[in-house]
Amino acid sequence: MTDQSSKISSDTVKTESQQDLLQFLADEGVDRAMLDEVRAFRERFPVQDPALAHRIPVPDCFYYGKDVWEDALAALLAGKNLLLSGPKATGKNVLADCLCSLFARPSWNISFHIGTDAAWLIGADSFDGERVVFRPGPVWLCANHGGFGILDEVNMAKNESLAVLHSALDHRRMIDVPGYEKIDVHPAARFIGTMNYGYAGTRELNEALSSRFTILNMPPIAEADLDRLIARRFPALREKIREQFVKLFIEIEKKAESSEISERALDLRGILDAISLAQQGLPAGKAVEMCVVNKVFDAYERTLVRDTVQARIPAELGRAEMFGDGRP
Ligand SMILES: Nc1ncnc2c1ncn2[C@@H]1O[C@H](COP(=O)(O)OP(=O)(O)O)[C@@H](O)[C@H]1O
Ligand SMILES: [Mg+2]
Repeated sequence: MTDQSSKISSDTVKTESQQDLLQFLADEGVDRAMLDEVRAFRERFPVQDPALAHRIPVPDCFYYGKDVWEDALAALLAGKNLLLSGPKATGKNVLADCLCSLFARPSWNISFHIGTDAAWLIGADSFDGERVVFRPGPVWLCANHGGFGILDEVNMAKNESLAVLHSALDHRRMIDVPGYEKIDVHPAARFIGTMNYGYAGTRELNEALSSRFTILNMPPIAEADLDRLIARRFPALREKIREQFVKLFIEIEKKAESSEISERALDLRGILDAISLAQQGLPAGKAVEMCVVNKVFDAYERTLVRDTVQARIPAELGRAEMFGDGRP
């Protein structure tokens, strides 16, 4: 296959997945007028450059939760930046990726940590072997190309180093790097922050920054949605077993909410991973031990979690009993 034809086929896949997502949202009952606005947005801001089209994510799973979808769409369509705040594994990154895909925007995933600084975010001088040139950072590129910038775990950076984002995020919509040209933020560009904020709280985002976002508190996935998510991801998993895994997650969630156990065991990723390991042939008990129970380091608490698991998932439950013929 030539470069050109492989490019075309991968773009076709993307378009199909965006169509699927639109269809999925229509089926979920998301407001039609909003979906029409999204279509109009896509027509207004087509992405022609193949290098940018390549940055439009193709989500491998859809976010479930109609109300959250509508809140997020309203904010982005109104031209606002969005901060997704909530406990871990509430689908913040899944939703952010789905939003980029739905709006068909190239995305820049920008992970924040204690060492994140302005030069890295916006760009800095660099020597290209002959002369000093400006090497743009991800926020600059995203703003310039009309992308969606995912500011992942934005609260983990030092607040002072984020001051450089203020003018990009508020009504000024511009980036002014001293000594360089000032650039305007492209009208299609948006920033979507994520922030883990559990029942016990976490590192806060300062007022200057949080006031520049519309903030969506991400709820834990609803029981019926979790059931559909597991069914979609593991179509061969028997319904009765699926039910037990759903109930197990809800029970751990209740215990974490009432502070009976910490939030370490409350991790949907762990539950999904456990089912994957069991699908590989590990007894269910062992799989859940590795993916859920062992995430808790306190011995007493681990016993509480293990008891909760054992009440629902028999330790010796094997692939054949879980997946019918036992094959993925
Ligand atoms: N409402 C939801 N819809 C779809 N998937 C979800 C939802 N909530 C959690 N998940 C699942 O949980 C896992 C973690 O999601 P992720 O987006 O990485 O979480 P976060 O960024 O909030 O920590 C993924 O497997 C994702 O599919
Ligand atoms: Mg995340």
